[in-house]
Amino acid sequence: MRALPFPLRTLARLGRRRAGERATEARALRQWVSGLWLCAGMVLGLPAEQARAATTPEKVVRLSHVVAPETPKGRMATRFQELVAQASDGRIRVEVYPDSQLYGDDDEMEALQLGAVEILAPSLSKLGAAGVPEFDVFDLPFLFDTLSQVRCVTQGPIGQRLLDSLARQQMVGLGFLDNGFKQMSAQRPLREVADFRGLRLRIQSSRVLAAQMKALGAHPVVLPFGETRRALAEGVVDGAENPLSNFLTQGLAPVQRVITLTDHGYLGYAVVTNPRFWARLDPADRALLQRALQQALAEGNAQAAALNAQALATLKQTAGVRVVGLSAPQRVALRRAVQPVQADFARRVGAPLLRDVTNQCLQPR
Ligand code: SIN
Repeated sequence: MRALPFPLRTLARLGRRRAGERATEARALRQWVSGLWLCAGMVLGLPAEQARAATTPEKVVRLSHVVAPETPKGRMATRFQELVAQASDGRIRVEVYPDSQLYGDDDEMEALQLGAVEILAPSLSKLGAAGVPEFDVFDLPFLFDTLSQVRCVTQGPIGQRLLDSLARQQMVGLGFLDNGFKQMSAQRPLREVADFRGLRLRIQSSRVLAAQMKALGAHPVVLPFGETRRALAEGVVDGAENPLSNFLTQGLAPVQRVITLTDHGYLGYAVVTNPRFWARLDPADRALLQRALQQALAEGNAQAAALNAQALATLKQTAGVRVVGLSAPQRVALRRAVQPVQADFARRVGAPLLRDVTNQCLQPR
């Protein structure tokens, strides 16, 4: 992958510094809230411990993510929080930190390893980059045509095998969540291979996505999700690929003139936790969290497509952004252009995994 040129390195450094500042602010906020309970106890004439016990949970589970609350992942996180609060009668509190408030793409995995956060839901692309290359299978362009093909992988034995493989990088994989199919955006329609030539397109940190953009004649630029809008606004990059729920909620419409509905790749998530945290939980609490999460994931998976459809409807009505489609021959030509990426990455993803995905989930097409 290319080293970042100067302005992007600066952007990335600024992003990291802001993530650190956000973490400090969050810590200060927690201390302030805890001080508030002591004051409340004094005002109400309750001993401080009693005042705190009435409102302070026994256990706090921090869930950090990088997208907006009104996205499939944001909704799932909020629902998980509600379900845990209900099932534990407030004894366990899930604190949700959306929008890279606590950690961003650059530091969230490290924070999980260090125990600074208990749960993350990184995109599957970021798990490939974190040293579990099997997850790159989800980035292969035009591999999946429908969400039910993806579900066949994520909700069956192949998905369980993938979650188990996260143990190699000191993560426990708890389940999968859909966002949806990605669409290309830029200042012009991206219908033909020639339209991509020379464009600088933001990608997640994924070798497959870098190869996909190069196969189309574009220059891939790896940037943290939270830095994408600014980089587009300042013309540091020309375009990006996103499911429309992310495009809309990141406010990309004012900085991108055209969305081309390419459906060229899938974006989803795995919910992961720290193995030490998970092992140390009381078994009943672990089961409670697991049940709440499975329900939040099931509900989230049932809603993801609708959220992206709503985002499409909104964007079609949004002044300043144009939504264009691909003709069947244009789709075939784009698919053909990126076909070599599948062959090139078969070894990295693992030939047996690719064969199982193809035989068990993509047939008949
Ligand atoms: C996310 O949906 O978590 C962000 C994906 C991205 O970095 O594009």
